Amino acid sequence: MANRTHEGRIAIVTGAAQGIGREISLQLAARGAKLALVDLRKPVETAELIGNGAIAIQADISVDSGWAELAATVDKQLGEADIVVNNAGIYPNITIDELDLEAWRRTFAVNLDSHFYSAKHFVPRMRKKKWGRFVNLSSNSIGLPITGLSHYMAAKMGVIGFVRGLANDVAADGITVNAILPALTNTPGTSGVPEEFKKNIWEGQAIKRFAEPADIAGPILFLTSDDARFMTGQALVVDGGQYKIS
Ligand SMILES: NC(=O)c1ccc[n+]([C@@H]2O[C@H](COP(=O)([O-])OP(=O)(O)OC[C@H]3O[C@@H](n4cnc5c(N)ncnc54)[C@H](O)[C@@H]3O)[C@@H](O)[C@H]2O)c1
Repeated sequence: MANRTHEGRIAIVTGAAQGIGREISLQLAARGAKLALVDLRKPVETAELIGNGAIAIQADISVDSGWAELAATVDKQLGEADIVVNNAGIYPNITIDELDLEAWRRTFAVNLDSHFYSAKHFVPRMRKKKWGRFVNLSSNSIGLPITGLSHYMAAKMGVIGFVRGLANDVAADGITVNAILPALTNTPGTSGVPEEFKKNIWEGQAIKRFAEPADIAGPILFLTSDDARFMTGQALVVDGGQYKIS
């Protein structure tokens, strides 16, 4: 029987329709959490895979109104959330020569503004419970020589800065805030990455294989559990030993 470390918890996962977000959702549910699955299109497949205890919500997490609506739905259908996994993200490859302000702003809105909105809506709810968990997806690409990602790397570095600052503001109420930095991972979002590029990445890792979503979900289970109660403001690299941030 699965370890029911998250029994009774209510968790919100953004970008839950596919990839890392879907896997995190399945694993949190297997540990006993009730799930609010959020994506641009209603993540019905993920909800069906989980069955009872999961609701699928269509929302754009890059705008405040998306968060206001999803918060009201979660309150009504599941109760006040204990856990937010800010997973939804976009990573268009655009070199600085082609990058325009619109793409820059969109990348920040989806990958970073969303984390701010999540805190504004859910910190008050978690404060009441004297317990809460935010896990925010950054990326190990911030330390790698990959072209076409200046906007993405800037936003994902911002995720770490926000995590560090927010952790200080909420620690007294039992709320922890941490970032996860995955390696290049096998998801629908990376299906177009050329094989040679992927192989070069694996060869630079101590563990020489493509990361799977389940490899990333494991540390998120830990960070959202009671076991990680004394760990906050951290940036955890989950990349098979490719890059070490100290
Ligand atoms: N896959 C990788 O190699 C990798 C590596 C490091 C970090 N990450 C990060 O992990 C997270 C998940 O990556 P993935 O590869 O599973 O992504 P993916 O592209 O496979 O899935 C992302 C999901 O987020 C949703 N989404 C995008 N914008 C949204 C919005 N405005 N509102 C609601 N939902 C939205 C998409 O619809 C999609 O279902 C991202 O934050 C990404 O930056 C991924």
